[in-house]
Order: sequence, then structure tokens, then C-alpha cells
Amino acid sequence: MLPRDTDWVGTPPIKCQGIKTKLVPFIFRSVIWRPEGDDRWIEPFFGSGVVALNLAPARDLLADSNEHIVRLYRAIKDDELTPSRAREYLQHHGRLLELGGAEYYYEVRERFNHGGSSLDFLFLNRSCFNGVIRFNRKGAFNVPFGHKPGRFTQAYTTKIVNQVAWAARQMRGRRWQILHQPWEQTLGMARKGDFVYLDPPYIGRHTDYYDSWDERDAARLAERTLALPCGFAASMWLENRHRRNDHIAEHWNGVELRVCTHFYHVGSTQDLRNEIDEALLIRQDRPHRTRANSARSARQRRLPLRPGWRCSAMQRSTSCSGPRARFA
Ligand SMILES: C[S@@+](CC[C@H](N)C(=O)[O-])C[C@H]1O[C@@H](n2cnc3c(N)ncnc32)[C@H](O)[C@@H]1O
Repeated sequence: MLPRDTDWVGTPPIKCQGIKTKLVPFIFRSVIWRPEGDDRWIEPFFGSGVVALNLAPARDLLADSNEHIVRLYRAIKDDELTPSRAREYLQHHGRLLELGGAEYYYEVRERFNHGGSSLDFLFLNRSCFNGVIRFNRKGAFNVPFGHKPGRFTQAYTTKIVNQVAWAARQMRGRRWQILHQPWEQTLGMARKGDFVYLDPPYIGRHTDYYDSWDERDAARLAERTLALPCGFAASMWLENRHRRNDHIAEHWNGVELRVCTHFYHVGSTQDLRNEIDEALLIRQDRPHRTRANSARSARQRRLPLRPGWRCSAMQRSTSCSGPRARFA
């Protein structure tokens, strides 16, 4: 199943901070995983689901602490939130947004914070400021209006409906478990032969998630991940113009590191919408010693990580998407 080249990347119906759409080809080129029998692709922080949906493995275990994301994807998988229901809802409420503007957006937000409807969540996610998902301490969605009353044009509605249809197709007929649980529980379910892709909130970057994330969480995650009985790949930010993520050198020493430069478009502040070096920390699952893989590992030497290190050009891939990838 992996590694593989990707020439088309599907886009999920919801957006979130740290969404990895543009990094899918880089991740799929970097990981070696050949599932057998009941082996699963596991994501303890699945967010928008873009990585799993593009991979579409036969068995998958997806989990997130955000219950609304989990509910939305379960509804799509179980054919409760169908493309036609999404179209009907977005056309109707899109018209009301056009008439009522910000006032109507805040009415839907209030309704969502009391009822938690997945269609309201989809509406808010696609019309809020910058596609951010953020909740206050009481668990209420608090992202302001994106200032576009005419947001749900026919073309935009069709685009979202097609994304719902694509997500449903990618899950259909496959044994996927979608769970609302903290990452510790998900890692505890990993077995030999599974592969775990981890994309936690970034320390010092995404402080506005459903759950908070700090240095101690990140250190515990590294410790538990290194003890997994299977392969893994973890996404982390490595460095930007201003600073470097020293957590990597301190906690992931000796793990294979691949790097590519990426621009984040989703973020609540300008500081979060910038160019950043993305690291993928990998421990391959049962690497196969084919000629292609031997050549590959020769190019991907392990980095001796220590405070003060920098990445050499050898591990750096300037194009995350590869030469041919198209994005839906
Ligand atoms: C960087 S995002 C994942 C992005 C995803 N890979 C994508 O491409 O869309 C991190 C996710 O971790 C979830 N999260 C935060 N704290 C968590 C926790 N303690 N346990 C499980 N999930 C958590 C957030 O709800 C968020 O969806």
C-alpha cells in the first residue's frame, strides 16, 4: 500500500488548523507499510480525515477528542449525512445567510452549541473565519463569522456536496472504526502490523484546539509512540523563519526524519498562516529490502538530532506534493 506516488489528492468536507491536504503526497512517498489481514491504519488525531480518506485502507481506526468531527464522519459513513441532504441543507441555510448575514451565522452557531447537529457544524466550518475549529473552555464553538453572507454560492455548495460524496465513497465497504477518545486510548489499541500516523496539535502553534496541548503532552506522546509495537509516522513542525522546534531533538532522537517546506493557509492569526518546515518522524513497519527501498533508505539517512542541529539539504524535499499531484 505504501510508499506510493499520488497524482490526485481528494479534499475532505471539513477544514481544520494543521490540515495535511498538501502533505499527503509527501507522507505517502515517505512511509513503508504493507498491511496484511486485519492490519489497520491508525490515526489518534484524525482532524479533517484527509490522510486516511486519501489512503482508503481496508481497515482503519480513526479517533479524535473533538466529538463533532467524529459525529460528522460517522454520519457520512452510515449514510445519515448524504450528499443530497447536505445540498438541501446548504442551499436552504445558505439563502438564509445571504439574507441575514452575520446575525444568521450567530443564530446557527447558537443552535449548534445547544444541539450539536453535524449539518450545522458543516455550515459553520465552511462559513466561519478562516476555516478554523475552535471551542471555548465550556466547549462552545466560538469562531466568528467569515464576513461573506453570499458564501454558499451554487458552485461552493456543489464543491462541498462533492466532498461529502467523495468521503462517503472512500469509506464505503471498508471496515473503519471512528472513535471519540483521547490519543492515549487509541495508541493502546495498536498491534503489530498496524501503522500509526500521528498529527497532534503543534506545541506553540495550535493553542486553540478542542483540547489544549503543551510540552508535557508532547513529551508523553513521544514516549508512548516510541514504545509502539508497530511502525509510525509523526508530523511535527520543524522550523520557521523565527524559531526551531527543540522538542524534536529532545524527544525523538534516532528516528528517521524527512522534511518538506509547507505553507499553512488555515489559522486564526497571520502568524499561523506562514511557511514552515514540516518534519515527518518515521519508524517504518517491516521495511522490505527491495532494490528500490535500499536506494530510498540510502537517501534518507537518520539525522543525529541534538540541540543546535540543522537539517541538511539531503533530507529536505522542497516539493511536498511531488511533481504531478493535483488537489481537488
Ligand atoms: C493537527 S490536527 C490533525 C489534522 C489532520 N491530520 C488533518 O490533516 O486534518 C490535531 C487534531 O488533534 C485533536 N486532538 C487534540 N487533542 C487531542 C487529544 N488529547 N486526543 C485526541 N485528539 C486530540 C484535535 O481535535 C485535532 O482534530
